[in-house]
Amino acid sequence: MSEPQANPDTKVKFTQLFINSEWVNSLSGKTFPVVNPCTEKPVCHVQEADKADVDAAVAAARAAFAFDTPWRTMDASKRGQLINKFADLLERDVEYISNIETLDNGKPFLDSVDDVRAAIGVFRYYAGWCDKIQGRTIPVDGSYFTYTRHEPVGVCGQIIPWNYPIMMVAWKLGPALACGNTVVLKPAEQTPLSALHCGALLKEAGFPPGVVNIVPGFGTTAGAAVSEHMDVDKVCFTGSSEVGKLIMQAAGRSNLKRVALELGGKSPLIIFADADLDEAVMWAHGAIMNNHGQNCCAGSRTFVQEEIYDKFVQKAKEMAENRSVGDPFDAMTMQGPMVDQAQFQKVLDYCRYGKEDGATLQTGGVRVGDKGYFVRPTVFSDVKDDMRIAKEEIFGPVQSIIKFKDMKEVTQRANRTKYGLAAGVITKDIDKALTLANTLQAGSVWVNCYDIITPQTPFGGFKQSGHGRELGEYALNEYTEVKTVTIKLPHKTS
Ligand code: NAI
Ligand code: MG
Repeated sequence: MSEPQANPDTKVKFTQLFINSEWVNSLSGKTFPVVNPCTEKPVCHVQEADKADVDAAVAAARAAFAFDTPWRTMDASKRGQLINKFADLLERDVEYISNIETLDNGKPFLDSVDDVRAAIGVFRYYAGWCDKIQGRTIPVDGSYFTYTRHEPVGVCGQIIPWNYPIMMVAWKLGPALACGNTVVLKPAEQTPLSALHCGALLKEAGFPPGVVNIVPGFGTTAGAAVSEHMDVDKVCFTGSSEVGKLIMQAAGRSNLKRVALELGGKSPLIIFADADLDEAVMWAHGAIMNNHGQNCCAGSRTFVQEEIYDKFVQKAKEMAENRSVGDPFDAMTMQGPMVDQAQFQKVLDYCRYGKEDGATLQTGGVRVGDKGYFVRPTVFSDVKDDMRIAKEEIFGPVQSIIKFKDMKEVTQRANRTKYGLAAGVITKDIDKALTLANTLQAGSVWVNCYDIITPQTPFGGFKQSGHGRELGEYALNEYTEVKTVTIKLPHKTS
């Protein structure tokens, strides 16, 4: 098979709402522009879902979840075949999806290709789970026979962000469908295009109408309608901690729907003096610069032991200066524009706060060019724990390098944050690595690597980084209810 080719002139095919396997306009007739962050101009206009459209999508998902429907009466193995068929279609369309992903998100085309392939891997992983989701038989007290069933939760609202659009579709839809749920998915307003294309492919694969519904729209309207809805059984959200709190409140105010949240982070990456310096600089650079820093588990606090601090800063600066910024459709580009004006402005604001708070700007901190949301990769040294750039999630290519003396001190400082999504340790000393792996308060700890996430590895947060786990077998818990069935026995026999 030939490698996917970048094509900035790719035409968008699907711009309507996908409800009950039909393409429909929004009931209000409203649309919104999807902006290309390179040009600041619209790529296309997409139908804008609001509460009434969410109601229609939820009704379709509810109908598809009735006991006697094709979806509920389908063999579990057949669900797996459908998910695999859908993954085949994603593979067929890798080039097209990668191009529209880069058009609305701005990430380098080859990164989009990697993302689509990662999404396919997640779908295939969950396709395999469908007929292996098993309850138990339990040796209960008394003359009874008890077993558990792991049943689908029902209608799942899924609200996803713009930083990894197609991967977020996979992390959410994969386990939800494997467990037999139905879905109303709201993509981020910045990046609805790859999710909409998935609607077409789900239909082509043969998923029954109503099993997946896709409603692009804004957070405070369409998103809030999902989280407030009385007939949505579960809401899964990835995004800011601020909105995560609103979603829990909405669940509490409405029907106590189940909530899973994957939120922000301010993840420490701790580098000991015994590390291979060049390798450590490389991992730390990738940890914060990949995906333009628009990554919930970005290694955004680079703790470096004092003996190597100055050398490390020098090399980190050189790496940042060598990172090519520009047209994401050019294969040599490593960093495209930030996703939108708000994210672009936020990153530049934090560069200003870094300087105001007394950190040393080694490189970057400015816009690249005068069109598009491009930011120069940025490195700050002499960063102190109480500075805003060390405490708050920037979500941009801004490396904050912080000095530390010893393990005990750095453990406490690394954990002194409201977040707990991820952490990393780089050392040749196995004792240090294992001690930190046990004491860092984070849902993922990487040793001598960073940001290694696979379909099999559970991912999620401690503290205010979220509730629940995605990926791996653990994600199945998020999408199943356990039912205990107890039957009276005529005779008890061990
Ligand atoms: P956001 O949390 O507002 O948006 C994420 C999703 O939530 C989007 O689909 C949005 O439409 C939806 N949403 C927004 N308000 C909502 C509401 N009231 N009810 C229901 N859904 C709602 O994030 P935003 O504004 O795009 O980015 C702000 C910051 O959030 C970023 O700078 C970054 O720090 C963080 N963030 C973290 C992400 C992660 O992967 N954990 C992803 C995106 C943003
Ligand atoms: Mg927001």
